[in-house]
Amino acid sequence: MKKLLAYDLPLRIFHWLFALLFVTAFVMGKTVDDDSSLFSYHMMAGLSIGFILTLRVVWGFIGTVYSRFSSFRLKPSELITYFKDLFTTKTKRWMGHNPASSFAAILMFVLTIGLMITGIYMSHPAYHELFEELHEIFANLFLIIVIAHIGGIIIHHLRHKDSIFLSMINGKKDPVEGQSEISTSKKLAGVLFGGLFGLWVLFLSLNFDTNQRSLTFFDTTFQIGEQAEDQSEDSGTTRDNEEEHEEHDD
Ligand code: HEM
Ligand code: HEM
Repeated sequence: MKKLLAYDLPLRIFHWLFALLFVTAFVMGKTVDDDSSLFSYHMMAGLSIGFILTLRVVWGFIGTVYSRFSSFRLKPSELITYFKDLFTTKTKRWMGHNPASSFAAILMFVLTIGLMITGIYMSHPAYHELFEELHEIFANLFLIIVIAHIGGIIIHHLRHKDSIFLSMINGKKDPVEGQSEISTSKKLAGVLFGGLFGLWVLFLSLNFDTNQRSLTFFDTTFQIGEQAEDQSEDSGTTRDNEEEHEEHDD
């Protein structure tokens, strides 16, 4: 059976970067001591997810048809039917996202925003405990959705034998009656997406201070979280800054 093009290149690049950054941020969050300077890479991975999500949101309005949010199946009744069919008959197939992956994607996007807000403002003395607690809940919920998402892809493949997982690699799916394929994979936009991400990584590597945990943007410095403790003894600037903090605390 000839496969048809469903997902453009920017969407596929976004998908794998999003997955990779989530796994990196999650594993580092759970395994690296938050006082260590290595933890800054957890923050950078988290900030990078926010960056690519911003690009994805723009693409959700101007991308090809199945990348657009308008093609997401977000009716609760369709989701219920989808789950009923999953355990009884065969689920309906879609060229774009099915109801379960549409809901999962939106939930993951919302949780990303929640993780960004709680992560960035966690060091705020008034909200520290609340944001720390929420951050952990959001991260764990995210993990549950990812596990369900991967489980869903496996069950779908077992039912339909259509290798749906390949659609996030080569963009192609088995044909669905009445639903057309996209005419272009938007290679140039894909290259632009990759290029913008590369620039973002360069920007972070030049402007994110892993000791101070601050990001400098056009002469303005944003403090993101508390400073790393294991670096504070070998850097004069860090110690100066620590004293400043103590003064503030007083
Ligand atoms: C940490 C791991 C993962 C995360 C966070 C993740 C996240 C997502 C997101 C956000 C979407 C929606 C894409 C969009 O519209 O922007 C999606 C769709 C999809 N993902 Fe993943 N994903 C992960 C792992 C995987 C794996 C391991 C596979 C398969 C091998 C996979 C296959 C797919 C497929 C096929 C779709 C489209 C589903 C459909 O057409 O209904 N994902 N994923
Ligand atoms: C998708 C993005 C993110 C994920 C999946 C994630 C995940 C996690 C996880 C799993 C933990 C450990 C929670 C625990 O079990 O105690 C954690 C802790 C933390 N995260 Fe994130 N995070 C993300 C984004 C961010 C961002 C953007 C920042 C800040 C810029 C941030 C700052 C922190 C801090 C400061 C902690 C330490 C909390 C503590 O004191 O225990 N995170 N994160």
